[in-house]
Amino acid sequence: MKRILFAFVGLAALWSGSVSAQNYPTRPITMTVPFAAGGPTDIIARIVGEHMSKTLGQQIVIENVVGAGGTTGITRASQAKPDGYNIMMGHMGTHGAAPALYPKLRYDPTKDFTPIGLAAGTPILIVGKKALPANNLKEFIEYLKKNQDKVNQAHAGTGSVSHTTCILFNSIIGVKPTQVGYSGTGPVLNDLVSGQVDYVCDQIVNLVEQIRAGSIKAFAIATPERSPSLPDVPTTTEAGLPEYQVSAWNAIFAPKDTPKAVQDKLSDALKKALDDPASRRRLLDLGGVLPKDNERTPEYLGAFVKQEVARWTPILKDSAPK
Ligand code: MLT
Repeated sequence: MKRILFAFVGLAALWSGSVSAQNYPTRPITMTVPFAAGGPTDIIARIVGEHMSKTLGQQIVIENVVGAGGTTGITRASQAKPDGYNIMMGHMGTHGAAPALYPKLRYDPTKDFTPIGLAAGTPILIVGKKALPANNLKEFIEYLKKNQDKVNQAHAGTGSVSHTTCILFNSIIGVKPTQVGYSGTGPVLNDLVSGQVDYVCDQIVNLVEQIRAGSIKAFAIATPERSPSLPDVPTTTEAGLPEYQVSAWNAIFAPKDTPKAVQDKLSDALKKALDDPASRRRLLDLGGVLPKDNERTPEYLGAFVKQEVARWTPILKDSAPK
């Protein structure tokens, strides 16, 4: 009798789980952004989150949980109940670079998440404060080499995109500037504009408006082609540093074991956001690169994260300052 009762309770739990996944979502969804408001991760989360809310019929509420290069927010979000009401905007740092720089990282990007989909590719630019005497990449590198004891480079915390991509840049050109950590590159940009920090390697969506306004200097974009959003900014190859090629990305994840029906609904809502003309225009105008159709599936993101961890681990082990 007891056995029959247990079997019945088990079946009922399974049934109610699948019914709630079918009805999902019935209340607002929290999307953790692991960096400060106003930076690239936050901007992309708000653009796609706004349209996803319309598709899902429930508000996606952005919660900024900052610290440790994005790993604080991602650790917390990865431990939330896997019911689709807690999702997160990760990126190349939190899900590609962090394992190489945090030996005690409390999540495994390749195992502890249910991938939803890539939101945008984000080319990296090297930018400096307006008062710097250099006017192109060559002059900037010369200036850095001569002044590395007094120059400071800002970033969004150990393992963040701005940290890891500048580790690479600094190691290629052979400088060790003072590093200044922030809770995100939104606040970094404010201090770059006001001249309190000297330079940063950052994701394009954070930078386009300030570069167009002339309030910061863009030395180069680290992609093979110029960005249509910043046609006057040379590529690193054109500017004489072809070895520095790097791009980042942002993507949505849910905690491991999120039901397939919920994963499908979130992934479909993200695809609709990326197909929506207004959201596309906003992302493209900020220099974002929209994932191609075959790059939008959860399976693609799952495989991509594995490649990114494998790609960044040796780079960071070799280049990180000892
Ligand atoms: C990073 O450097 O990882 C990001 O730019 C941080 C952010 O999105 O604010």
